[in-house]
Amino acid sequence: MNAMVETDVLIIGAGPAGAAAALLLSRYGVKTLLVNKYPGSSPGPRAHIVNQRTMEILRELGLEDTAKAIATPQPLLGDHVYATSLTGEELGRIKAWGSSPEALAAHAAASPCAMCDLPQLYFEPMVLQAASLAGAQIRFQTEYVSHRQESEAVVSVLKDRLTGAEFQVRSAYLLGADGARSQVAQDIGLAYEGELGLTAAGSLNVEFTADLSPWVAHRPGDMYWFVQPGLGIRGQGIGSLRMIRPWHKWVAVWGYDLAKGPPPMDEGEATRMVHRLLGDDSIPVTIDAWSNWTINRRYAHQLSHERVFCLGDAVHCHSPMAGLGLNTSVQDAYNLSWKLAWVLQGKAAPRLLASYDKERAPVAKQIVEYAYDCGRYIADMFRSLGLSANPSPEQMARSLAQLKEPTSAGAALRAAWREAVDSTLAGFGGAHGVEMNQRYVSNAVFAEDDDGEPKAPSEFHHEASTRPGAPLPHVWLTRHQHRVSTLDVCGKGRFTLLTGLSGQAWASVASAAADKLGIDLDVHVIGPGQSLEDSYGDFARMSGVAENGALLIRPDRFVAWRARNDNPEQRERLLSVLQSILS
Ligand code: FDA
Repeated sequence: MNAMVETDVLIIGAGPAGAAAALLLSRYGVKTLLVNKYPGSSPGPRAHIVNQRTMEILRELGLEDTAKAIATPQPLLGDHVYATSLTGEELGRIKAWGSSPEALAAHAAASPCAMCDLPQLYFEPMVLQAASLAGAQIRFQTEYVSHRQESEAVVSVLKDRLTGAEFQVRSAYLLGADGARSQVAQDIGLAYEGELGLTAAGSLNVEFTADLSPWVAHRPGDMYWFVQPGLGIRGQGIGSLRMIRPWHKWVAVWGYDLAKGPPPMDEGEATRMVHRLLGDDSIPVTIDAWSNWTINRRYAHQLSHERVFCLGDAVHCHSPMAGLGLNTSVQDAYNLSWKLAWVLQGKAAPRLLASYDKERAPVAKQIVEYAYDCGRYIADMFRSLGLSANPSPEQMARSLAQLKEPTSAGAALRAAWREAVDSTLAGFGGAHGVEMNQRYVSNAVFAEDDDGEPKAPSEFHHEASTRPGAPLPHVWLTRHQHRVSTLDVCGKGRFTLLTGLSGQAWASVASAAADKLGIDLDVHVIGPGQSLEDSYGDFARMSGVAENGALLIRPDRFVAWRARNDNPEQRERLLSVLQSILS
């Protein structure tokens, strides 16, 4: 075996979780080595929805404009169409991904960023390139084999897949971002709740190229669902199209019976099936690839063991409904990376790292269960038509015909169908609360008695809060007359204290605390005549504290602590709060 390679953090896996961790750690000044067993990043489109929280992280990293330039923007995602085929009769639409007027307003109020559609195929290289520019070492064709933990380090064995040679890496920490079948998670014995591939249905994806703009550009959406007698691999009657690039790159998706195994597939069969979805076999189609996947419902209660931390699909695997996979993986990395940096740089004790499990394990559970629940809404559409999961073509044809009957039975069926179609919104952008409302309870958050108990927020609607453990709410401030978000003035690896004009005494208290602890602590006094002004009055309305109170914001822009006002007792507490959080 060759000489030992040394680094601060070794990351296994260059998917969204590992790539984001490599970028964040490198930006924080941590020496990072990222390895991936394959020759390159994801060749398939995979996850595609990038929600507002992830866009906020990209904004902090200076990648928001890059992402927007290569993504499909929100206004082109909203028409989620249900029809008999792409060229056939429409059966209804939902206003997906925040496209209703109410949801658009809620999105605009919740964040300075808009969600977008950026398939993993494009997302990963964007983040990897930025990580590389920030100094991360990235090595493809390199496979994690095993590790052993020592008192001050982890020694991992990696294999160069080009030569077959094994070598060792000594790092202070090891991150397992190696996906659903994580070897790292297995090696630290993480226990899971739930399982992979748990339903009877598998799914088949066929990637293809076809200019479908004549049928979609006037009703732009990320997905088109088809209910058609006999459609699908064994005639289940349902299939869908997912847009990868408007309007020429697509994935067609069908379910199949897992017990019977994936259907035999070749280019001719794939083309025939795509044409069934399109409802017109004269449309030119080029088949690019096909693959199978299954619905998962699995999460870990514990995410780490000593110096090894797992993130992303390694600790939460779920259905693609609600588009939470890539997002949660990046957000895991955002939670963990600043803590690792602070510990490695001697600004916090290792106990801070225990908060990673406490904060992210409940999120893992929530998103897995939420995404799984969304699956039932598709089954409910069938039920609303009086159909079983595998209806005969004749039954389905009868139900679809009845949808158009001007009778009371037809009206009842239409009402049931409408209700079922509306409920599918939960899986296509209706989870704004799940995306935005994390509430952390841990040793890295300091709640006071008068903060009360944390309340479970809505899954569907964004709820702003400055209770410690909540994400700092976004409001617009101004700097030299230009709008700047509260999120823009926090983060970037530093703690920040926000206060109003009469809270100026906090500046010297914060500076003394920062000096004593040897940390960076930015203070922003927000008000007239200051470099940041509360021009709209929204900061005062949102802050939840008096003008002379303060919000202490963590490097990941979660509220660490809040002081309702600036009485001397409260001010003295700042130091002890920071000491408690940084252990
Ligand atoms: P990810 O699986 O992306 O990355 C793991 C990395 O680890 C890979 O780079 C792999 O090569 C590497 N690796 C594994 N073992 C290794 C080893 N021993 N040594 C070195 N490297 C190793 N989600 C969603 O929200 N919407 C969607 O539509 C879809 N669609 C979808 C389709 C398909 C076909 C799949 C497989 C998955 C999805 N997903 C999805 C899920 C989404 O892709 C997933 O949640 C994220 O990719 C998770 O990111 P991670 O970085 O955690 O794992």
